[in-house]
Amino acid sequence: MALAKITRRNLDLDTALAEAERRYLAANPKSIARLERAKASMPGGNTRSVLHYAPCPLTMARGQGCRLWSLDGDEYIDFLCEYTAGLYGHSNPAIVAATKRALDDGVMLGAPNVYEARLAEALCARFPSLERVRFCNSGSEADLMALGLARAVTGRDRVLAFEAAYHGGFLMFAHGGSPLNVPIPMVIARYNDTDGTRALIGEHAHDLAAVIVEPMQGAGGCIPAERGFLDMLRAETARHGILLVFDEVITSRLSPGGLQAAWGVIPDLTTLGKYLGGGSSFGAFGGRADLMDRFDPASPDCLYHSGTFNNDVLTMAAGAAGLTEVLTPAALAALNARGERLRAALDGLFDAAGLGVATTGLGSLMAIHFRPGPIGAPADLEGEDPRLKQLFHLAMLARGIYLSPRGMVALSLPMGEAETDALLAAVGAFVEDYGPLLPRAEA
Ligand SMILES: Cc1ncc(COP(=O)(O)O)c(C=O)c1O
Repeated sequence: MALAKITRRNLDLDTALAEAERRYLAANPKSIARLERAKASMPGGNTRSVLHYAPCPLTMARGQGCRLWSLDGDEYIDFLCEYTAGLYGHSNPAIVAATKRALDDGVMLGAPNVYEARLAEALCARFPSLERVRFCNSGSEADLMALGLARAVTGRDRVLAFEAAYHGGFLMFAHGGSPLNVPIPMVIARYNDTDGTRALIGEHAHDLAAVIVEPMQGAGGCIPAERGFLDMLRAETARHGILLVFDEVITSRLSPGGLQAAWGVIPDLTTLGKYLGGGSSFGAFGGRADLMDRFDPASPDCLYHSGTFNNDVLTMAAGAAGLTEVLTPAALAALNARGERLRAALDGLFDAAGLGVATTGLGSLMAIHFRPGPIGAPADLEGEDPRLKQLFHLAMLARGIYLSPRGMVALSLPMGEAETDALLAAVGAFVEDYGPLLPRAEA
């Protein structure tokens, strides 16, 4: 995308934002026209809230490798990475080949297929807590099923979750929760608050079926759990007969066996999703055999778990190919090491400019926060000016960097040094252009 050099040094934040919006709208007329037309048949022209951003989301026409092309014909490096589901990049050849083979053999078989156990075996081999696994269609569904199972087997009602946690569209706990959340009675604790959470678990122990936690809060800002916090959760839930559920929908990519393997904290149940379906709709939940075997349809008091697309042929074939042919432990280690290097370089860039801009994250997942660190809990993000996030987002798009409006960056396998260098250059230019508007490092 051609960029006219302009000097922004004397702008205030509102003027800078208004100018960035004007330039963005002028550069993307086809995306705007598509959105306007979609508004007639879809509320706000949208069917997925997270993809909306002001002044108008880009429409993407196609993707290849780690690149995307918008309807207006501009090329972007894809650091949004489909909110981590795009780990394989676009059109990975092994996954495309497996999908085509499956498509040729018919996809509506109405029976167990040859792919599902292949994927299940590969998952159980990788994730230490998975003795058995079942499939569904999304991470949201996986979390609902895990909590439903916990409530059924314990005969208890409540679930403890954490402020700012996102466990899918029916279990959202940012900003006081959503009116669309499922009516499970919840206890909400503070993430990384070891003593406070221990006390809450003790207080509600008789009534708690499960504690559900992301080992690193993803949507909440890429904030990793402290090791002692997870150890406490493991010990206290075991002591009180409460099931510990790790939502590894996002964090599963941080080591071959997820963060549970990396940190050696093994939950009773785990939920998965995103890239593990090879690019198609996917969710999975699994864990201890004695719990999961309640779904064995041959047992007299089995729990019934249905879903037309639970074993969708395309997802099962693509997921199995991805996990067995593409995502080797070495490939994943290289991806996460690249992410660590990128985050360190971003920190170096902000530090050198004397800015109070912090990064969080682990491995191939990170977030940029326009406020000084350290950030160890969601409460530490309070007071961040949302206008800076928006300005940053628009500035990155103007330089061909596609990333989430919340400042999250995810790497995909096809990315190399050239792509991470391009991100660093774009961030460097942003700092150059808007430095005076950004928070200063605390003395
Ligand atoms: C931690 C976590 N759990 C669950 C979900 C829900 O997954 P899905 O979007 O597939 O329903 C997400 C989605 O971003 C997530 O980040």
